[in-house]
Amino acid sequence: MRSRALLVFLLIGCQVPIEPDGGVVDAGARVDGGSLVDAGVDAGLIAEPVCLPALVIDADKADAGRQFLFAGQVGGQLVPRLAFDNLWRVWTTVPPADVPRALRERYGFAAPLTPNDGLPMGFRADGAQVRVDCLVCHAGEVAGQTVVGAGNNRVDLELFIDDLKTLARSFGFTPPNPPALRTGARGVNDIIGMTMQLAIRQQTPPGPVNTEVGFQDAPAWWTLADKTRIYADGSGPQTAHRTMMATQLAFGATQPELERLEPEYIALREYLLTLKAPAWPFAAPPTDAVSRGRALFRERCTTCHRDDRCERAESTLVARETVGTDAERSVKYGPNEVALIAASWFGQGQSYRSTASYSAPSLRGVWASAPYLHNGSVPTLEAVLDSSKRPRFFRVLGTSRAEYDELAVGLKVEVLSAAPVMPPRAERSWVYDTTKVGLGNQGHLFGDALTPSERQDVLAFLKTQ
Ligand code: HEC
Ligand code: HEC
Repeated sequence: MRSRALLVFLLIGCQVPIEPDGGVVDAGARVDGGSLVDAGVDAGLIAEPVCLPALVIDADKADAGRQFLFAGQVGGQLVPRLAFDNLWRVWTTVPPADVPRALRERYGFAAPLTPNDGLPMGFRADGAQVRVDCLVCHAGEVAGQTVVGAGNNRVDLELFIDDLKTLARSFGFTPPNPPALRTGARGVNDIIGMTMQLAIRQQTPPGPVNTEVGFQDAPAWWTLADKTRIYADGSGPQTAHRTMMATQLAFGATQPELERLEPEYIALREYLLTLKAPAWPFAAPPTDAVSRGRALFRERCTTCHRDDRCERAESTLVARETVGTDAERSVKYGPNEVALIAASWFGQGQSYRSTASYSAPSLRGVWASAPYLHNGSVPTLEAVLDSSKRPRFFRVLGTSRAEYDELAVGLKVEVLSAAPVMPPRAERSWVYDTTKVGLGNQGHLFGDALTPSERQDVLAFLKTQ
C-alpha cells in the first residue's frame, strides 16, 4: 500500500508532508495551528504545490459499498408505494399521462439510471414501501445525463414531504414526520439545521443551539478523495462516516438500525472515494487558452484551492470574513452545535471543529456542480469569477444538454427583476432569491481582478479539470 502511494507521489512530483497515521492527515492541526488563510493572500510566493499522496482504495470494500448504496437497506421505509403513485392527486384532478415524469418534474427528482420500478433516482421499492436514500440529494442531472455524485440541484424535499402529509389526510396512512427540512431554493436546503433538530431530540445540548443553519447545496462526491476536511465550513474530518449516516434518520431509519449497518456505511464511504468527475461533454477548449488558464490558476487560486498537480491536498479553511460569502452557514454552526454532534454517537472519535471559516473546495469536475458557492447562489463559473455578473433573482431552467451554459460554464437561468409575489408553493422554490437570509451571493471576489480574456482562459482550464 505504502509503495503505491509513494509511486503516485513520485509521479506527480509533490512534496509530501509527514503523515501521522499513514493515509489521512487531519487538517484539524492546521485549524488549531492557525495556518488558516486570513488576509494578504500572496499566491506568487508559492512555487511548488504541497500535495498529499493519493489515498489507497480497498477495491473489494468499495465494491461492497457500491452494492450497498444501490441495492442495500439505505434509509428507512419512508412511504407506502401506493401513496407515492397517487401523489399527483395533491395538485391535479387529471391523472398525468406519465406519472413518474410528472413526479420528477414537480419535486426535481433525477431520472433513474436503471428502470428502478418506475421510481426516480434516490428511491427504491421495498415490498409495499418505498425507501429514500442518499442519491435523492447526491445524484443530479447534468447536461442531460444523471450523474451519481453530482448534487441534485433541482430537488425540493420540503415540498415532497408537505404533499405526502396532505395526501395522508385523505388516504389515511401515517405520513413521514421528519424534522423540518427547509428548502431555500431548488437543490439548496438546510440539512445541517435538520441534523441539529434530530440531535436535540436525542440529547440535552450543552447550551442553546441553532436549528436553522443557513442553506447548503450537496457538494460533489468525487472531490471527497481530494481533501482532508468535509462540509462547507470544513467542520468535519474527511474520514468521518457517521455524520453522513445521520441524514437517514430523517428518512425513516432508526439509530439502532444505523448502528447495525455501520460496516456497510464504512464500505459506502470507500465507494465514494472511487468516484471520478465526469468529463466536459462539449467541444474541448483551445489548448493555448487552457495552458494560459492553468498558469493563472496556479498563480492566483492555489493558495486556497487544491493545485491541479496534486491528486490530493490538505483542505484550506479560509476565515469567513476573508472569503466574504454568505456568513450564515458558518456563523450558525458554532461551538455549541459542534459540541452537540461531538458528544453524540455520530461524532464519537472524530475531530469535529467549529471553524469560523469556509473550506476552499477542490475544483475537480467543477463544471458539473453548478450552481456555485456553498449555498448554490451563483449559477455559473463566470459569475463566480466576476461578481458584477451575479443575478439577484433567477429561475433555473431545465437540465437538458441545451440548457447547460457552455460559455459561462454552469446553469442557464432566467434573470428576474424581483421575486414573484405569492407564487404557488411548487413554483416558489424555482426562484432563487439571493436577498434572503442564508442565500446571499456576495463575496469570493478573487476573480474580479482578472481581465475578461484571462477569465475566459481560467474557464477553459477549469473545463479540463
Ligand atoms: C437531503 C439531502 C441529503 C441527503 C439525503 C444526504 N445528503 Fe449528504 N450532504 C447534503 C448536503 C446539503 C451536504 C453539504 C452540507 C454542508 O456542507 O453544509 C452534504 C454533505 C455530504 C458529505 C460531505 C461532502 C463534502 O465534500 O463536504 C458526504 C460525504 C455526504 N453528504 C454523504 C452522504 C451519504 C452517504 C448519504 C446517505 C447515507 C447522504 N449524504 C444523504 C445533502 C444530503
Ligand atoms: C483566499 C482563498 C481563495 C482564493 C485566492 C480563491 N478562492 Fe475560490 N473559494 C474559496 C473558498 C473558501 C470557497 C468556498 C466559499 C463558499 O462556498 O462560501 C471558494 C469557492 C470557489 C468556487 C465555487 C466552487 C463550488 O463548487 O461551489 C470556485 C469555482 C472558485 N472558488 C474558483 C476560484 C478561482 C478560479 C480562483 C482564482 C482566480 C479562486 N477561486 C481563488 C477560497 C479562495
